[in-house]
Amino acid sequence: MPFHISVIEVIQLNRTSKNKPNIVLVGFMGTGKTSVGKRLSSLMRMRYIDTDSVIERDNERAISDIFEKDGESVFRQLESEAVEQVSDLYNFVISTGGGVVLKEENVATLKENGIVFCLTASPEEIYERIGHQTHRPLLQTPNPLETIRTMLDERAPYYAKADYTMDTTGRSFDEIVVHIKNIYFRKMKTFVPKNPDV
Ligand code: S3P
Repeated sequence: MPFHISVIEVIQLNRTSKNKPNIVLVGFMGTGKTSVGKRLSSLMRMRYIDTDSVIERDNERAISDIFEKDGESVFRQLESEAVEQVSDLYNFVISTGGGVVLKEENVATLKENGIVFCLTASPEEIYERIGHQTHRPLLQTPNPLETIRTMLDERAPYYAKADYTMDTTGRSFDEIVVHIKNIYFRKMKTFVPKNPDV
């Protein structure tokens, strides 16, 4: 499906460019946050950033190295700092690490300047997409599919805190992009950002 935004939508984007809320993507590893986020960024002419890259850039270390040498709790602290940073932005597509929702305050902070969309997928599809990859420390287990199932169950109440949830199982990322775009255009009109321009 070719990307398309209407003339009305272009006018809306230009008129409100200063205080345009961010589009925030949360969701389990392998649900398509990066792919969807990058497509949304080019369609909506919004810049793209992701919290894992902010952490790696600021600390000059790979996520896997932080997990291995300092453990998950240090990583979570750095992740919250990255969330604070990106939440000061406007007009960005922000993709986040799969565990960002585990701290309630992260979600609250992301909502200050953004509309939060949670992407989901079945455990089998997540496994298909990322089961072979080696850079996600939490999935380096003897049975990654079982780990995915367990973690999805544990995290379900946290992902439910997003403003909107969309299942990507069996759907193209382009389809998801259009869905998010449509909700965004509806919601941005009434969105009140943290520091509105007066
Ligand atoms: C994590 C997800 C990863 C990364 C880290 C922890 C998680 O990001 O932040 O490995 O706890 O689910 P992606 O969701 O982008 O893979």
